[in-house]
Amino acid sequence: MVSADRVQALQTAHRVLGYIQQDRLSPADAEAMTAEAAELYARHVSRAMLAHRKSASTDETAAEWSDEGAYFWDTRGRKYLDCLGGYGIYLLGHRHPRVVVAVEAELHRYALHSQELVDPLRAYLSHLLSLVTPGDLQYVYLTNSGAETVEMALKLARLATGRVPIVATVGGFHGKTMGALSATGRGVFRSPYLPLVPGFSHVPFGDLDALATHLRGLAAVGEPPAAVILEPIQGEGGINIPADDYLPGVRALCDEMDALLICDEIQTGMGRTGTLFAVDRVGVIPDILCLAKALGGGVMPIGALVARPHLWTRLEENPFILGSSTFGGNPLACSAAIAALEVTLADDIPGQAAQKGALILDGLSTLDLKHPGVMTAYRGRGLLIGMEFPDSATGYRVAKGLFTRGILVGGTLNNARVIRIEPPAVINNDDISTLVVALDEVFADEEGRP
Ligand SMILES: Cc1ncc(COP(=O)(O)O)c(C=O)c1O
Repeated sequence: MVSADRVQALQTAHRVLGYIQQDRLSPADAEAMTAEAAELYARHVSRAMLAHRKSASTDETAAEWSDEGAYFWDTRGRKYLDCLGGYGIYLLGHRHPRVVVAVEAELHRYALHSQELVDPLRAYLSHLLSLVTPGDLQYVYLTNSGAETVEMALKLARLATGRVPIVATVGGFHGKTMGALSATGRGVFRSPYLPLVPGFSHVPFGDLDALATHLRGLAAVGEPPAAVILEPIQGEGGINIPADDYLPGVRALCDEMDALLICDEIQTGMGRTGTLFAVDRVGVIPDILCLAKALGGGVMPIGALVARPHLWTRLEENPFILGSSTFGGNPLACSAAIAALEVTLADDIPGQAAQKGALILDGLSTLDLKHPGVMTAYRGRGLLIGMEFPDSATGYRVAKGLFTRGILVGGTLNNARVIRIEPPAVINNDDISTLVVALDEVFADEEGRP
């Protein structure tokens, strides 16, 4: 006998497939679905997550239902300007038409692969990545996410060097799997899981002297470092931009110590900061480059590790020793990434990010003069921009004020003191003006507060 739960599951699946296949939700379906989704979130996902999702929200829950370009719409048809960009994934905007065309075509041919035959799209994407990444970065391992990419980079560093110590930075964010979390530099995420993977240590970000002392100290006590891992600009840490001589200095120190440099460009890569990779701006060639987020063109999840040739020796002996990723580099994800690279190069996405980012920073500079003291700082490179406020409560009110005006921004993870402006590069000048006008109103409200 089929249980009542199974019957309910089948009925619910039919109903939801009906929603998915509708061109437009009826107002009744929209209301019913939004309320039901919120209730199911509380029961099966997390009450706290629901509260968090609503945190920047208006009084009623908003459920996302469609998107295009720099915008998305909720189930009730309300339009939002996306100035958060999915924390970096929507650099090309939502459902970029050329990415969608490629993925749709691939979907109608083959979606996943047999795991045994040569997969042409994996080969071509790897080739393209080796062409666009700096220096002799050549070998590619494809994954499904940022954390998985970092995980593989850390394993590769140990495999290739035969050394253990990995040096990361305070405030850095590399993901939340055990290895990636060991590199992540935030106590709130790490402390519940201690002890993490052994052999990790953290130095202050942006401080070459501290890094030099630490690396030389490790070597002096007989534990020379395998690798230094860092983000060229710390994203989740609060959009922290180091001095121009920092990355070249880190590269020189790694060379001195025979340690690898792993640059985590999961958030900064693919043009976000105004150059294709943030390391390009200062001419640094890492030994391992980590990509994810925007690599999938905002349509498919995919990550990639790109490594220099000498690191691949052990993998030539045994190609299975690094990782196994049943879904990593699947044809759908590869088709999205190949299309994303095409759009990025053909439409000069890095150039657009540089130019539009400068416009937003100009706007912030004007607002800072007009409403002195509301922001304690603002900074950014390309379309990775942070506004810093005296406390999280102010940042929260600003984010909420923008949301009520139909503009989404976000805090950095668990911290609203720095609010991120990270829009798609397809945002237009009118949208930027809309953002600046809304910020002007919200900042005026802040000034008016007792
Ligand atoms: C720099 C950086 N590395 C790694 C990650 C983890 O990526 P994912 O959430 O896909 O695991 C993130 C996510 O925000 C990130 O910003």
